[in-house]
Amino acid sequence: MNKLLFAVPVLVVGIGTMMMAAPQDKDVKQVYLDKCSVCHGEDGKAQTAKGKKLKMKDISSAEVKKMTDAEFLNAILKGKGQDMDAFEKELGADMCKKLSTYMRSLAK
Ligand code: HEC
Repeated sequence: MNKLLFAVPVLVVGIGTMMMAAPQDKDVKQVYLDKCSVCHGEDGKAQTAKGKKLKMKDISSAEVKKMTDAEFLNAILKGKGQDMDAFEKELGADMCKKLSTYMRSLAK
């Protein structure tokens, strides 16, 4: 009985971790394409209808590159200016961090 009581949570946590861990990295790109690329563009260069209309910066431009990682992440968490929404509530801080890393990698 004791063994069984122990085994059940281990199994649940194990399966849970497996299910969460594997697809997550792919998800970052998917989330980016779903939520961000409309404006920022697939490659982050903001060559989209919205990007042009909002006169958005290319994330690989010198100006954006000189933002610190904290500023960059903060723009995603809390939003920036009038048109960049805060995404912390919608996506969670963890996903925002991953998006920030993902976008930085696009900018290279
Ligand atoms: C409605 C259009 C729109 C969407 C959707 C959008 N952004 Fe933005 N984003 C902007 C605008 C406008 C700015 C600030 C203007 C600029 O580019 O200088 C900005 C700025 C940023 C910045 C700061 C760097 C910079 O270029 O100023 C980051 C980082 C960023 N966005 C990440 C994201 C992420 C991640 C998502 C998706 C979760 C996202 N954005 C979705 C419009 C958008």
